[in-house]
Amino acid sequence: MRRKRYYQLCVCSCVLIYIYYFFGVSDYIFSRSYVNNFDYPLNVDVQPIVEKILSGKKPSVKPINYYPYRFLTNSGKCSTLDRLDLFIIVKSAMNHFEQRSAIRQTFGREGILPGKEIKTLFFLGVGESPKSMTQHQIDEEMAKYKDIIQIDFLDTYFNNTIKTMMAFRWLYEHCSTSDYYLFTDDDMYISVKNLLDYVHSESEGDRQLFAGYVFKSAPQRYHSSKWRVSLDEYPWDRWPPYVTAGAFVVTNKSMKYLYAGSLYVKHFRFDDIYLAIVAKKVGIKPVHCPQFHFYKKTYTRDGYKNVIASHGYNNKNELLKVWNEQNTH
Ligand SMILES: *[C@@H]1O[C@H](CO)[C@@H](O)[C@H](O)[C@H]1NC(C)=O
Ligand SMILES: *[C@@H]1O[C@H](CO)[C@@H](O)[C@H](O)[C@H]1NC(C)=O
Repeated sequence: MRRKRYYQLCVCSCVLIYIYYFFGVSDYIFSRSYVNNFDYPLNVDVQPIVEKILSGKKPSVKPINYYPYRFLTNSGKCSTLDRLDLFIIVKSAMNHFEQRSAIRQTFGREGILPGKEIKTLFFLGVGESPKSMTQHQIDEEMAKYKDIIQIDFLDTYFNNTIKTMMAFRWLYEHCSTSDYYLFTDDDMYISVKNLLDYVHSESEGDRQLFAGYVFKSAPQRYHSSKWRVSLDEYPWDRWPPYVTAGAFVVTNKSMKYLYAGSLYVKHFRFDDIYLAIVAKKVGIKPVHCPQFHFYKKTYTRDGYKNVIASHGYNNKNELLKVWNEQNTH
């Protein structure tokens, strides 16, 4: 009898310990309040530093976050034009040849909106081997279309922040005169026309705008989660409001603030969270636009009339079909 009880107690404790560990309960208990204690490094007022940089002066504080990677290719797409209406930055994976091909035939096709200057570039990292079959195919693709910027960091999921911020650097250095910049993944449906209608309906001029699908959520602490974040990495109980990185739009002013600000904000491996932290530090408030769909919006001809962006288009034929039906008359 006594032995049985002892056994039950043992099992019970094991289950509790397992739950405690598995769900990261202690991480939830010991996380710090975002509202009261958020102080991500570098702990200085970043906004005046950025304003100094953008007015051409040298700030007294040294940058802490400069990604040491090189652009392996370049593009003159922006250099011959005084201004652009929109620059589309596609964060693409190396072997997504079909997706890039579909984008070139749909929302990334240049010259489809009369009177609008719109350019598109794809941003990629590299693989383990420079002599791989994939790299060989990419070399041919680059020679043919001249629309790929390749950067010499390893193209993996958790290097996404590097891809995003290196794209920001390229724009900052080579293409800062576009009115707007759309950052998108290579598995999105995009309506450029609806996007331009939206940004123009927000007030015009030299202003901040960082818009898309905004989440207000908390870090995941479960040990089984792909997105688990430890307290060492991020000790606060909430994320700053963040625009999901699948698709978002910024003005030229915000592009510059976010890039210059990023030099003073410690790296974080999720690009949307990283940009949210930088935005908070430079005083930009993310704007939620319900026309951006984080989850794939089920397609109907009428239902897509006002859609700017929807996730879930990694099938080439599906993107072509939907885009053609919505964007040609
Ligand atoms: C990110 O890229 C760098 C540079 O290529 C590489 O050393 C590092 O292992 C990559 N990190 C991940 C998580 O893949
Ligand atoms: C930034 O965009 C605004 C319109 O949104 C435009 O008036 C301005 O000329 C642009 N700035 C630069 C440097 O191109």
